[in-house]
Amino acid sequence: MTLRPSPEKLLALGMSFWNAKALLSAVELGVFDALADGPADIATLRARLGLHERSARDFLDALVALQLIDRNEGLYSNRPETDFFLVRARPGYVGGLLEMANNRLYESWGHLTEALKTGQRQSENKEEGDLFAALYADPHRLRGFLAAMSGVSAGAANAIAGKFPWRDYKTFIDIGAAQGMVPVTIAGAHSHLQGGGFDLPQVGPVFEEFVAANELAGRLRFYPGDFFADALPRADVLIMGHILHDWDLDQKRTLLKKAHEALPAGGALIVYEALIDDDRRENAFGLLMSLNMLIETAGGFDYTGADCQGWMREAGFSETRVEHLVGPDYMVVGIK
Ligand SMILES: C[S@@+](CC[C@H](N)C(=O)[O-])C[C@H]1O[C@@H](n2cnc3c(N)ncnc32)[C@H](O)[C@@H]1O
Repeated sequence: MTLRPSPEKLLALGMSFWNAKALLSAVELGVFDALADGPADIATLRARLGLHERSARDFLDALVALQLIDRNEGLYSNRPETDFFLVRARPGYVGGLLEMANNRLYESWGHLTEALKTGQRQSENKEEGDLFAALYADPHRLRGFLAAMSGVSAGAANAIAGKFPWRDYKTFIDIGAAQGMVPVTIAGAHSHLQGGGFDLPQVGPVFEEFVAANELAGRLRFYPGDFFADALPRADVLIMGHILHDWDLDQKRTLLKKAHEALPAGGALIVYEALIDDDRRENAFGLLMSLNMLIETAGGFDYTGADCQGWMREAGFSETRVEHLVGPDYMVVGIK
């Protein structure tokens, strides 16, 4: 007897945007903030969140079924992960990424088919310059984007702080540091290190605020600049996280060459991303991230560890290696 295949997985995948949007709206409405101080009943939540009578029960119970909140005897409460990671006022908050997904990516991804056919970026302001010029023209969007980057990089930052041999180096600079999650995490874990973050000048105040809030202003400073127009600042270790994937191949090569020029002999470049597996068939997140770059940027794309090591060797790095960090994130280390 031949078994008929089941369509269940296909239909669940096709409809999975329902789950995603329920979570994104929960973050937008502040469901997890409303439960931060303890359990609440439906009437209290309706008032706090401004939910319509028709939607409240189904929405909150859908969040229970998605295991984002709990319900006991009519009282809703946060689950441990949502309480730790999705309450805005808490230091562990990573919802900046989900806020950006809700505000920007959700709509842009609605134009995926057009992007696939035209190869053109589809972000909200697709006619304006590069992604960063368009984002940074509006201070509110600038802050939102930089906070989102902290959400994307928090896990990788911890892993880089733990796995790289920092005791062999004294100085480091994160190139394209955004709010500074990576330098703050590394400097917080290794008290002998000095360094900072390099980024476009508009990012300076946001970086400095975050560093000061983490009491690291004595060891971390901001280096303003444009990595295409200016030389990179010098340090024993340079880091590029989610930088190369924003740019086309020539621009990737230029950035690697500039990093090589700025390092001393024996210095290290750490590139980290959600790398695509070398065989390009397993890491769906890395491949979808590359499609996100199609949606978001003029020529950006993600790549495999083998691709990156090849470009590093062309730029002059003598030793290269790939190490897993956490989840889909890997680092590629090049030694000059
Ligand atoms: C995708 S974010 C990555 C942020 C951070 N490294 C991380 O992984 O969370 C790219 C960063 O590159 C910075 N950037 C973009 N163009 C730049 C340029 N021409 N010169 C310097 N920094 C730039 C942006 O401001 C932004 O902080």
